[in-house]
Amino acid sequence: MGYGQSHIKSYVLRAGRMSDAQRRSYKTLFPDFCVPFTPEPAEAGSFRLDFKHIFGNENPVTLEIGFGMGIATAMIAQDNPQKNYLGVEVHRPGIGRLLWEIDARSISNIRIIEHDAVEVLEKMIPPSSIAAFHIFFPDPWPKKRHHKRRLLTRPFTGLLAEKLCPGGYVYMVTDWADYGDWALAELSATNGLRNRYAGFAEHQSWRPETKFERKGIEKQHEVRELFFLKG
Ligand SMILES: C[S@@+](CC[C@H](N)C(=O)[O-])C[C@H]1O[C@@H](n2cnc3c(N)ncnc32)[C@H](O)[C@@H]1O
Repeated sequence: MGYGQSHIKSYVLRAGRMSDAQRRSYKTLFPDFCVPFTPEPAEAGSFRLDFKHIFGNENPVTLEIGFGMGIATAMIAQDNPQKNYLGVEVHRPGIGRLLWEIDARSISNIRIIEHDAVEVLEKMIPPSSIAAFHIFFPDPWPKKRHHKRRLLTRPFTGLLAEKLCPGGYVYMVTDWADYGDWALAELSATNGLRNRYAGFAEHQSWRPETKFERKGIEKQHEVRELFFLKG
């Protein structure tokens, strides 16, 4: 199944003003921590992204889709120096913010790709190469006519399974009850994934609260977690 440039996007690019600090971080730190999107047809097992080259080691790689401002990403990476983190995001102010955090916290195990994660996965990520996917509070697309934009939908969830290495996992969290039910059904029906729990997952205590999580909790939304393993 090809996704290509024409697939329905799971985001709408927000104009979002960049603060001076975000703009400065984006300008000065981009070359060191951001990897350009380099599409290459997934042919003959050749993929552009060489994790050893971009991280300088062979530690396991967690790929986060849509890190937003990236504070939770920075905290998790700082807590786990023996792992690598690849954040994929389209919102430039958020990329500037995460770059600022990387600098402020002297983090060396994060790299960023500024592009649509669907295309990054399809065109740049080798099969069976990712130890974990983190997808925290993805855009819920609550209106029925927008449900097709929801990221956690087949066949995309099959692409997650294909890119996971043995023992790998997908960890998704949402504050939107209907999206939680939707994602549970889609992930459960995805070949190559199995639920680690019976239904929704326990809260993973190592995960810091994210910005969108805080907003959801302020609105009395219930947080639902999903944890699926490869296999
Ligand atoms: C609702 S926000 C959540 C941000 C953050 N994870 C949090 O919990 O605060 C969803 C984020 O996902 C990003 N996003 C949505 N679809 C994406 C895609 N296909 N590729 C990369 N980023 C995406 C959006 O730009 C947005 O920043």
